[in-house]
Amino acid sequence: MSEIENYLFSSIASILDKQSLKEIQRKNLNLSKNYKLRKQNVFLDDETRLAYIASRLPATYNVYKYVFNQIKSFLPHLNIKSVLDLGSGPLTALWAVLDVFEDIKKVHLVEKDFKIIELGKTLLEPLNFLLKKKEIEIEKNDLFKIKNFDYDVVALSYVVNELKLPLVDRIISKWERSQSKILIFIEPGTKYGFENIKYIRDKILKKNLKIAAPCPNILPCPMNKNDWCHFYVRVKRTKYHKYIKAASLGYEDEKFSYLIISKESSIPYQSRAIRFTKKSKDEIFLTLCKSGNILTEKILRSDGKNFKIAKKTDWGDIFNEI
Ligand SMILES: C[S@@+](CC[C@H](N)C(=O)[O-])C[C@H]1O[C@@H](n2cnc3c(N)ncnc32)[C@H](O)[C@@H]1O
Repeated sequence: MSEIENYLFSSIASILDKQSLKEIQRKNLNLSKNYKLRKQNVFLDDETRLAYIASRLPATYNVYKYVFNQIKSFLPHLNIKSVLDLGSGPLTALWAVLDVFEDIKKVHLVEKDFKIIELGKTLLEPLNFLLKKKEIEIEKNDLFKIKNFDYDVVALSYVVNELKLPLVDRIISKWERSQSKILIFIEPGTKYGFENIKYIRDKILKKNLKIAAPCPNILPCPMNKNDWCHFYVRVKRTKYHKYIKAASLGYEDEKFSYLIISKESSIPYQSRAIRFTKKSKDEIFLTLCKSGNILTEKILRSDGKNFKIAKKTDWGDIFNEI
């Protein structure tokens, strides 16, 4: 666990310590229901906001980190110094930005719900010593009113789900005209979340833009109609998290779909594992997105170097055969 993550978990705990967890648990059920129904206003009361920081924030923070690290892997020449996060909720992105981008100087977060911003600011208090060295702007506004997209990275995480899909075209066009280098979309790893990502991907490919991850190419997406391309991060569950979700396991897997759009070419790769890898002593099965197809490749111990590479390949990793 990183130092930032430690601060995040203890900050969440110090807020939840003072609350009635029973009510938050009830609201958490509503939160999940509203997500599934794709409601446009999910933060209807304080308990729902608290349920978000207890059960969702640790997960989305880890997802942001995963996606930011993909930028580092596939666009390593970019030294990310500024980030604009649209639809920031409890300012989740800021924690992940501080954790991943060492040279970050400026972060601008935009959120329409004043109370979730306030909760996010309370959470951030232990990080004030770090934040005062950076340029941080936290703005209560409608994300569509933001004119300046000139940040190295522009991100929307679990937000498109709450917007009318064609409006996303406006965000893409504004980003295209800006000096920004990278545009990120993250959505729930569900059929609907992926439909949003697929919609955006189709728009991107009609323009002269590039995809740094997760797609290994710009061929039409081979995913079947009833399936969805998604990845996961394993998230530690705190005692509050477990109580609110009435869960016993000490962790959960947060599933998400994402797209990193770039104006520059990224490091090329042949394929990406899009399911759990099945490994035994002598053979490995990888389900790959490769050359415009989804296929399962069997790699035998006798394949030598490829077997060694496959052994280290997990869901979400790239796979370059020799
Ligand atoms: C599910 S939360 C995600 C928060 C954060 N990005 C994360 O991943 O943890 C979606 C947020 O987008 C905000 N939002 C939705 N539409 C917005 C808009 N038009 N302008 C600003 N914020 C918006 C909601 O208020 C909510 O806080």
